[in-house]
Amino acid sequence: MAEKKIIAVVGATGAQGGGLVRAIQGDPSGGFAARAVTRNPNSEKAKELARLGAEVVAADVDDDASLEKAFRGAHGAYCVTFFWEHFSPDRERAQARAMAVAASRAGVAHAIWSTLEDTRQWVPLDDDRMPTLLGSYKVPHFDAKGESNRVFSEQGVPTTFLLTSFYWDNFIFFGMGPKKGPDGKLAITLPMGDRKLPGIAAEDIGRCAYGIFRKGKDHAGKTVGIAGEHLTGAEMAATFTKVLGREVGYHEIPPEVYRGFGFPGAEDLGNMFQFNRDFSDYFCSARSVEFSRSLNPALQSFEVWLKKNRARIPIE
Ligand SMILES: NC(=O)c1ccc[n+]([C@@H]2O[C@H](COP(=O)([O-])OP(=O)(O)OC[C@H]3O[C@@H](n4cnc5c(N)ncnc54)[C@H](OP(=O)(O)O)[C@@H]3O)[C@@H](O)[C@H]2O)c1
Repeated sequence: MAEKKIIAVVGATGAQGGGLVRAIQGDPSGGFAARAVTRNPNSEKAKELARLGAEVVAADVDDDASLEKAFRGAHGAYCVTFFWEHFSPDRERAQARAMAVAASRAGVAHAIWSTLEDTRQWVPLDDDRMPTLLGSYKVPHFDAKGESNRVFSEQGVPTTFLLTSFYWDNFIFFGMGPKKGPDGKLAITLPMGDRKLPGIAAEDIGRCAYGIFRKGKDHAGKTVGIAGEHLTGAEMAATFTKVLGREVGYHEIPPEVYRGFGFPGAEDLGNMFQFNRDFSDYFCSARSVEFSRSLNPALQSFEVWLKKNRARIPIE
């Protein structure tokens, strides 16, 4: 049997990378093997990946030598950054650069860079429809990723630029689930007006990435976008109502109110939703559900995902 192609997966114990490791290891005849990259191979999550048969290696994206070692001998590399751990676009750019350089030095044949739009191409800094944040960003956690795309090209790494979507898992982990309003009624709160938001089950991002590695160089040098479904706030609320068996409304608010919520990252997310709303046609068209299903035939709709996860939705 031909030797399996190794895919080094950054963020392997997390949402995107974890989905990819499970997709690779779940397809033993697919010709690929996962190398899970983690800072701590002794963590429970890392051990779980080892039990699936993944090779687990220690590396830190802030340590260039460890990263190059982790990528060496790999056919592919899945590159993702962790904005919400540090809230720093400078650090995110440095980590993206480190991965691009390591992929180049290690001679990786195909990288996937988990990216998002540099929103300043749509909303220049002098456009005051939304505030400029941290001095030179509109949506810091998008802009630094988009700005980093060129580093992968400059390093000569055959790269697929993967535009991801809003995780529906945010309804579980990010405090975005249905909450009771002053009227005692449950509602989800989003500043999306009546526009559609592309969303996806986080696990499906890794499965789609696996589809991209399987298709190989067809997708190298290209930008592709993925989503499980494009839904308005009202449509998501209607699905909550159906699946939870309790009335859930859509509380539509202006982005400036969202920006003022005061939790860490509220301004960044307020601007993000405003960008998603104001450029919804572009944003949805860049993330085809049909294409995503061609990469990952088991792609979940919001209803399918919610039925599976209903017991995990915190309701306040
Ligand atoms: N939430 C959303 O809706 C959404 C949508 C689209 C894109 N995104 C983007 O997704 C990215 C995060 O991806 P994710 O959700 O898959 O992350 P995640 O679930 O938070 O997992 C991050 C993993 O990365 C590892 N990690 C953190 N710092 C590291 C470092 N310095 N070196 C090596 N590994 C490190 C950690 O593993 P160890 O502790 O094992 O090392 C952790 O398990 C963010 O940049 C965010 O902007 C989020």
